Amino acid sequence: MTNQIYSVAIDGPAGAGKSTIARQAAKALGFVYVDTGAIYRTIAYAAILSKVDVKDAQMVEALLPQVQITMDWLDGVQQMYLAQENVTGEIRTSEVSSTASIVAAIPAVRQFLLDMQRDVARKRSVIMDGRDIGTVVLPDAAVKIYLFASVEVRAKRRWLEMQHVPFETVLMDVAARDERDMNREIAPLKPAQDAVMLDTSKLDLQQSIDAVVEIIRKKIAL
Ligand code: DC
Repeated sequence: MTNQIYSVAIDGPAGAGKSTIARQAAKALGFVYVDTGAIYRTIAYAAILSKVDVKDAQMVEALLPQVQITMDWLDGVQQMYLAQENVTGEIRTSEVSSTASIVAAIPAVRQFLLDMQRDVARKRSVIMDGRDIGTVVLPDAAVKIYLFASVEVRAKRRWLEMQHVPFETVLMDVAARDERDMNREIAPLKPAQDAVMLDTSKLDLQQSIDAVVEIIRKKIAL
């Protein structure tokens, strides 16, 4: 048993299964799972509550000093708080999803969240998932994994979780988010040069978790 602190970065597009896979892998390894998308979602939710037009970057930037975000873990499940109020459930709507990908393209928002994310990884071993963890947030992470799957497979997985939404709508939504996340000027979604690429298109959930745990164990000999 060592007291060494390790960071694992998992990046990839929406719907590649990152959060479920990262959460289960963290459980298997005794690491804390950090979902950074939830932090962007909380900012988006704050903007929606304040009726800020998120297309106006200056308005969003002006809102930031008033946004009080904290997080903690309840039975290993990350909880998000906005001004002391638990908003873990509220940030999962599709309105918050698309708003999050808009606010995430604003440089001031990314800067605002950078220290918060790095701070968590300084104190404990983490598996952190997001879009720019291996490239920007934790460039020295011991392990970097880029999880991906075809856009159709990702949309299908999302669609199966939803009810009464036409598949075409979900497909367009996932494609639009990819477009925004990959083509923004700041910290676009892309694999780090030293990331292990893992295509989950043909893997089921358990196979994906096993593959991730194996990649991590190989790299840091746990
Ligand atoms: O992973 P998610 O769907 O909860 O993320 C919500 C949005 O936040 C997503 O469209 C991209 C953005 N995001 C980001 O830009 N950087 C991160 N590290 C995590 C999420």
